[in-house]
Amino acid sequence: MKDKVTIHTLKRLKQSGQKICMVTAYDATFARILDEGGADVLLVGDSLGMVVQGQDSTLPVTMDQMVYHSAAVARGAKRAHVVGDLPFMSYQVSPQEAVRNAGRLVSEGNVGSVKLEGGAEFADTVRAIVRASIPVMGHLGLTPQSVHKMGGYVVQGRDEDAARRMLDDALALEAAGAYALVLEGVPLELARTITQSLKIPTIGIGAGKHCDGQVLVCYDLLGMNPDFKPKFVKRFANLHGNITEAANTYFAEVRAGTFPDEEHSFKATKGIRLVTPTPVVPEAEGAGEAAEKVGGIYGAPV
Ligand code: KIV
Repeated sequence: MKDKVTIHTLKRLKQSGQKICMVTAYDATFARILDEGGADVLLVGDSLGMVVQGQDSTLPVTMDQMVYHSAAVARGAKRAHVVGDLPFMSYQVSPQEAVRNAGRLVSEGNVGSVKLEGGAEFADTVRAIVRASIPVMGHLGLTPQSVHKMGGYVVQGRDEDAARRMLDDALALEAAGAYALVLEGVPLELARTITQSLKIPTIGIGAGKHCDGQVLVCYDLLGMNPDFKPKFVKRFANLHGNITEAANTYFAEVRAGTFPDEEHSFKATKGIRLVTPTPVVPEAEGAGEAAEKVGGIYGAPV
């Protein structure tokens, strides 16, 4: 296994001009696949409110849920750095509450750092969490927890004033000790200016190619939802189609009685007496005396 990615690795990647690959994950199975696929960073995003829970925003997601999913992802990740999102109202009330909740994500969720949304107004909060030895990733631009303030999910920083404010926010977060910054829903020219103005890496989603890295929601890049196709998402697979096809084949075989066949069935120990109407199991090939291993359950090899 290659060395574990840390916040220092990410800084070095920016310095050497190598792009950072980040993707969301919400459970151990996806975390393992994406980690083995080469992710540098796995983000346990509060986007799980939408893609896992079926909510229409990230606002209902709770600390307990973030801790639960973070711990699952951390168990699946070997190499990638795991970041846990601080959910709505877990850090906005006071820096003290923010530190306590960031601490829960680290101690119970086993993440390597936390992410929070917002600009200079959260600089003190970032400072407090970093002082507690917990690295913080910032998040500027289209910040979904501020959906009501933004009036919807709209691109941010398009005019000169807004662009200037976002650059100031980025500089304030860096000065407060943030180790990286997500830029979401931002014009690519502004993302380039911010990226060039910071020593810490920027990771873009809908922010163009000049960021130091990119992040996408794993369900989006894998094509799990055919009805969701925003401009910034590229589908790198069609899992919706693949899953539908596999499920249809499975259902058809169950209905036809062709699954399970012999290959996927167990045999009784030879010679044992069963209740009527079948008196004795004849000597069956492959039926051993010893305990027969199932070979694993629910995708976990044993
Ligand atoms: O919650 C999330 O998944 C995110 C990313 C999309 C950046 O914040």
